[in-house]
Amino acid sequence: MAALDGGIRGFAFASGLAAIDTALHLFKSGDRIIVTEDLYGGTFRLFEKVFRPFGLEAIYVDTSNLESVEKSLQQPGVSGIFIESPTNPLLKIADIRAICSQARPLGILTIVDNTFLTPVFQRPLKLGADMAVYSATKYLAGHNDVVAGAITVTDAALAERLAFYQNAIGGILGPQDAWLTLRGLKTLSLRVHQQQDNAMRIANWLTTHPHVGKVYYPGLPHHPGRHVLEREQIGPGSMIAFEIDDATRIPAILSGVKVFLFAESLGGVESLITYPAVQTHADIDASTRDRLGINNRLLRLSIGIENADDLIQDLKELL
Ligand SMILES: Cc1ncc(COP(=O)(O)O)c(C=O)c1O
Repeated sequence: MAALDGGIRGFAFASGLAAIDTALHLFKSGDRIIVTEDLYGGTFRLFEKVFRPFGLEAIYVDTSNLESVEKSLQQPGVSGIFIESPTNPLLKIADIRAICSQARPLGILTIVDNTFLTPVFQRPLKLGADMAVYSATKYLAGHNDVVAGAITVTDAALAERLAFYQNAIGGILGPQDAWLTLRGLKTLSLRVHQQQDNAMRIANWLTTHPHVGKVYYPGLPHHPGRHVLEREQIGPGSMIAFEIDDATRIPAILSGVKVFLFAESLGGVESLITYPAVQTHADIDASTRDRLGINNRLLRLSIGIENADDLIQDLKELL
């Protein structure tokens, strides 16, 4: 992982959350950390229900808005920024290079959750981040058959501190799961390129459908993060979110899919459909979800390596 990310050291964990949990132990009570506001619900839960009671305060910011990030970094006590980019589920893009250049002179540690793009499409350490974290459960392992996490770093002293916490906390990856993850990594590039080609076709098709409203996919020309993507990323990946016009149709869609599977994870060779408001993001309160746009008409797709025509046909029949 360190080689793929251009780092000096990589660490394997029992899950993505075990990796993030270990990284957050680098902070201490009284610290404040800027956090992407629409991030994976489980990371939000970790910040709010586990670390806040210990005195680590997360301040949620739209990290696709550089001005808001700059202001938030000036607040007293801020010692870290945790960026998820693209975000889950709305696929907002952060300008990682610009954020890192603001954070570094202030001594603020930058952590990027690179689960969605993997080192094939985005290399946060090369953009100036101190640490990249991954749920390897997703694209890195890639077959929906293992739960794993990873962290890569560029600085030797930081690596030593992380190694200490990893050993002390113990959320390490077992040998069988490490083997499955390594086996998955061998086809990472092939898989994610096929998934991205499929996603591009499906996202474009969705934009033409009469029952579909907003389509969130960074590869679409109207996507607000498009320019940053062109500068900093190699590709938009294969996560798509979209709104349908009528929420009452959602149960029939979720139970009717034949090629897609209705399941919570993402990044594997099988295409999955998820209902963020009741699944992955259920831990975020309803008013915050509504403000962010994670409403009850929003569906999320993780596109796999199947034939794109079959995937489109599946959606066409249900929409
Ligand atoms: C972006 C992101 N980060 C972290 C995680 C947590 O990873 P894990 O399920 O391996 O603990 C997830 C899981 O869905 C995720 O989507």
